[in-house]
Amino acid sequence: MARLCFTFVIILALTLMVSPTESQTCTSQSFTNGKVFTDCTDLPYLNAYLHWTYNATNSSLSIAYIAPPAMPDGWVAWAINPNSTGMSGAQTLLAFKFNGVMTIKTYNIVSYNFTTSGFNLSYDVWDLSTENSNGTIAIFAQWKLKEKTEKVNQVWQVGPSVTPQGWPMKHDFSPENLNAYGTLQLVKAEGPVISPAHAPQPVASGHDAPAPTPSGSSRIKERVNVGVFLNLFVILASLIAF
Ligand SMILES: *[C@@H]1O[C@H](CO)[C@@H](O)[C@H](O)[C@H]1NC(C)=O
Ligand SMILES: *[C@@H]1O[C@H](CO)[C@@H](O)[C@H](O)[C@H]1NC(C)=O
Ligand SMILES: *[C@@H]1O[C@H](CO)[C@@H](O)[C@H](O)[C@H]1NC(C)=O
Ligand SMILES: *[C@@H]1O[C@H](CO)[C@@H](O)[C@H](O)[C@H]1NC(C)=O
Ligand SMILES: *[C@@H]1O[C@H](CO)[C@@H](O)[C@H](O)[C@H]1NC(C)=O
Ligand SMILES: *[C@@H]1O[C@H](CO)[C@@H](O)[C@H](O)[C@H]1NC(C)=O
Repeated sequence: MARLCFTFVIILALTLMVSPTESQTCTSQSFTNGKVFTDCTDLPYLNAYLHWTYNATNSSLSIAYIAPPAMPDGWVAWAINPNSTGMSGAQTLLAFKFNGVMTIKTYNIVSYNFTTSGFNLSYDVWDLSTENSNGTIAIFAQWKLKEKTEKVNQVWQVGPSVTPQGWPMKHDFSPENLNAYGTLQLVKAEGPVISPAHAPQPVASGHDAPAPTPSGSSRIKERVNVGVFLNLFVILASLIAF
């Protein structure tokens, strides 16, 4: 009997781990606000997706980032880091539900100590909005990039909760969280330039990504690596203190 119970608990746990978005790919997603984008990619970690349209003529990038927060009352974030691949310097859009209202904030993460970070980004961003549906949060935004930008360093993240003052609490340190960054190639790097609508989709490696590890089991190990990864949103840990 005890064994049966145990098996049941295991099965229940596995079931709960499967995110409703896991079987989706970005190409099947649509937005209730009717926004459409020329390109999309299944980000390789955190069940996250990025949709974008890049107009190279005016170097404007329109994005929609979708991810399920780590917990129902958590946050999601997407950033461009102009000078680095790490956390420091990330120009961040972060969204969550606050007192029942969907909220989006910008953070110019200038150091690991958030008290020295500001809210003004080094890019012009506009048309900021956020939506909550199907257990996921979407962030919409337009970015004015430097002229002739062909790729950007992107960083994305999800976290479990927000303080009563509206500060995001630190995210988990699982490999999924710590690896959630990469290059977003906006203009095809090689070969003839073809229109974005017909360009091949960026490699959707999401489904080859290692399965999410249950949070907790890998924390101790990963914490050792934090100094190496200097992950973007580790800084959010410091918020709790303030
Ligand atoms: C890109 O931006 C330029 C300048 O604003 C505009 O003329 C052009 O129509 C835009 N291209 C697309 C595909 O929207
Ligand atoms: C660039 O063009 C796009 C249309 O493709 C437009 O949505 C965007 O606002 C323009 N950017 C700027 C900075 O005017
Ligand atoms: C990135 O580097 C440029 C050139 O050094 C600098 O002007 C800019 O402020 C830096 N951006 C951030 C966010 O640190
Ligand atoms: C963060 O920076 C502020 C202002 O420089 C300082 O007072 C505070 O002690 C720092 N906090 C940490 C955790 O280093
Ligand atoms: C942020 O932007 C606002 C509005 O443009 C400006 O009033 C404020 O001084 C800026 N803050 C910093 C720290 O640059
Ligand atoms: C929500 O889920 C339904 C059913 O899976 C799907 O048809 C719909 O496109 C989803 N909506 C969004 C905004 O992802």
